[in-house]
Amino acid sequence: MESPDHTNETDLSSFPYPDGWFVIATATELKPGAIITKPFMGQDVVLYRTKTGVLRAVAPYCPHLGAHLGDGKIEGEDIVCPYHKFAFAPDGRCVRTGCGDKPPQARLESRHVREWNGLIAVWQGADGHSPEWELPKFDWTGYSAPIRGLRVLPGSVQNPSENGFDPAHLQHLHGWENGTSQVQKSEGHRLDLITRITLKGLPIRIDVNLHGLGLMTVEVNLERAGLQAMFLVTPAQIAPLKWTYRESMRLRASWLSKWPAFAQKAVYGLLAPAVYHLWYVRQLQQDIDIWERRSFIRHPKPSATDAPLVAYRRWSMQFYSSTKTTGSENGDQTLVYPMISRV
Ligand code: FES
Ligand SMILES: [Fe+2]
Repeated sequence: MESPDHTNETDLSSFPYPDGWFVIATATELKPGAIITKPFMGQDVVLYRTKTGVLRAVAPYCPHLGAHLGDGKIEGEDIVCPYHKFAFAPDGRCVRTGCGDKPPQARLESRHVREWNGLIAVWQGADGHSPEWELPKFDWTGYSAPIRGLRVLPGSVQNPSENGFDPAHLQHLHGWENGTSQVQKSEGHRLDLITRITLKGLPIRIDVNLHGLGLMTVEVNLERAGLQAMFLVTPAQIAPLKWTYRESMRLRASWLSKWPAFAQKAVYGLLAPAVYHLWYVRQLQQDIDIWERRSFIRHPKPSATDAPLVAYRRWSMQFYSSTKTTGSENGDQTLVYPMISRV
């Protein structure tokens, strides 16, 4: 007889939302004085920038009578609700009302928010806990300008990071050869993997570094060609069955480093779009074709080649708050994900 924890084996609608930093917008979407609304983990998040540039992420509904603040406007440093013109300061306090009455003791709920590498990331802590780590800093000296992409896909936010720890698919889905992978580090919110592989005889080293489930850096090194492609892959779950795949790609060619800046810019202006569209997007589409129709099996059946993937799934469980206190169902601490009801 099937055990009870195998019911809903593939029911993503009751899969919990993970904790961590997640990118939900690009910085250029939000000029000073602008307000935008983004879907994130089954809710709206209202992002705004005050006139002096302070970035805020707040819950969407006005504490007065529930109007949507995404329809409001910015006056100086305050966000003003469209319905009765209650104004809220950057610290969330209600500082005035439209009628001039004494403002009630009301406060906007906010999220921790960071502007990071031209992107906007918000913190998700299901039990209300504050950020447990910060996003990493990068030195982009010598790199091309980033090329960015955004796709809305069905399924789980774990697709790209799990993909990074699935060396077998590089061969069988993408047609690369002779891959070997080694988990380098598994420490707190970090998990690192190095894969060595060849593509049409050219040796390639791929460094995949995870910072929670919302950031995967992928450094693809073609040492013989003196070329490195660096990807920031920043997925976010926006609804139970929907997630956004965002990536930024930057190139660095070691042989360009001595060239004058204008020549570097001209070469990167041709090379980076060619690598992005002619190589990367084609590879990504092969993954997307799988992701769009796959299910996130709670009890996978790994083979020996899947050792990095097994390490990944064990590591990833820490981001589901319920597992921090209760562990997984049936005492299985390895690969069983919790199910919760969001209804
Ligand atoms: S609902 Fe926002 S001011 Fe009344
Ligand atoms: Fe892939």
